[in-house]
Amino acid sequence: MANGHRLVTLPSHVDERGTLVVIDDTVTPDFEVRRAYVIRGVPGTEVRGAHAHRELRQIVVPLAGSFTVSVDDGEQTAEYLLADSGVGLFLGRMVWRELRAFSEDAVALVLASDRYNPDDYINDLSQFHDEYAAQIVTMAFL
Ligand code: TYD
Repeated sequence: MANGHRLVTLPSHVDERGTLVVIDDTVTPDFEVRRAYVIRGVPGTEVRGAHAHRELRQIVVPLAGSFTVSVDDGEQTAEYLLADSGVGLFLGRMVWRELRAFSEDAVALVLASDRYNPDDYINDLSQFHDEYAAQIVTMAFL
């Protein structure tokens, strides 16, 4: 689970009183949540993210509304539509992500493996590809 990106189904308990969604350490088996933050009120034309993390792992959960997350893991690109609070998106180390097309009511909950650390960010896509390629070369020699 440590790397890559994938949708994760969150255990949901639905009855006539409504829905209860659980996020526990079975959902984040390779990291303990050390930080949570919320993104909301994003105009539909704005893009959030546009960076990768060298070490941080995250799960993004659409608590309300919908938005898309485009990812680039150095090898391939993909796009996820997050629109169901029972389905989150795991983002491992070294995944470039861009969040866009937020609906007016969208609320994103982000659970993260560590505290905020600006030094963990790669904010430039070509630098991300350079660092990714350098990692692959290093791993080939290990
Ligand atoms: P930013 O990284 O631009 O958000 P996004 O990746 O969603 O586009 O963060 C916006 C501001 O919030 C910026 O000044 C840094 C600050 N910030 C914190 O202080 N703590 C945090 O945990 C995060 C994620 C951001």
